[in-house]
Amino acid sequence: MISKVQAILSVQPERAAFFRDLPAAASPPDSEKTSCGPASSLFSATIQSLLRTLAARDPYTAHHSVRVTKLATCFAVYLGLGSQEIATLHNAVILHDLGKIGISDAILNKPGPLTPEERAIITTHPLIGELIVEPLNLTPGERDIILLHHERWDGTGYPRGIAGTEIPFLCRLTSLADAYDAMITDRPYRRGFPAAQALKEIESQAGSLYDPELTGKFAAFLRSSWQKISCGSPLSCQAVLFSSPGRFPTRTSASPHA
Ligand SMILES: [Fe+2]
Repeated sequence: MISKVQAILSVQPERAAFFRDLPAAASPPDSEKTSCGPASSLFSATIQSLLRTLAARDPYTAHHSVRVTKLATCFAVYLGLGSQEIATLHNAVILHDLGKIGISDAILNKPGPLTPEERAIITTHPLIGELIVEPLNLTPGERDIILLHHERWDGTGYPRGIAGTEIPFLCRLTSLADAYDAMITDRPYRRGFPAAQALKEIESQAGSLYDPELTGKFAAFLRSSWQKISCGSPLSCQAVLFSSPGRFPTRTSASPHA
């Protein structure tokens, strides 16, 4: 008897990569597992279910979420952060773009620049995400990552427009990983940047978009990681950092807008 997944793939083959990769990709590597945080099996199952919901709507964003989670947690390990902070990143970064479920396909899939009105709509996705996860009783730090991952160092971000160290540290960290992954992956209107070019672009915006001190550490982390990095997972930092953009699902029919 044909499986449910095979039945879906027979008419929507573009979802193959997601269904093939997600179970391993969404599980924390052994080295990142922690007893901290709301790590009950029901909580983990809920996270998995929400991620699959996102993937059913927008496979690109689901894969992006997995990659950014891995990159952010690997960077946190590099920084020597504690298990509580790593657990916060692991639980929340995976859901950081969940609110895009509430943005229309006409905007998510638009292959060109957004109008100001469309831009205003897409900037609501952190608020929508926070509303979706409200019943989960996430920690304040976890909720912050979902709500504040588009805040910018100079105060030009959204939804609150807070600046500098008003932005929680883990949100500043997430925004770096988020931006890097967005740059190295293909968009409908451009190819992904080479890793070195993406990093230079991020460094050029240190002190404007990104925390300047943390950007320096992120650059050092990435450059050292290009030589050697291991976080103990088949789809961990090595895959995130070394894969060519073409290995990742492209946004041929998925959301181009961060
Ligand atoms: Fe986002």
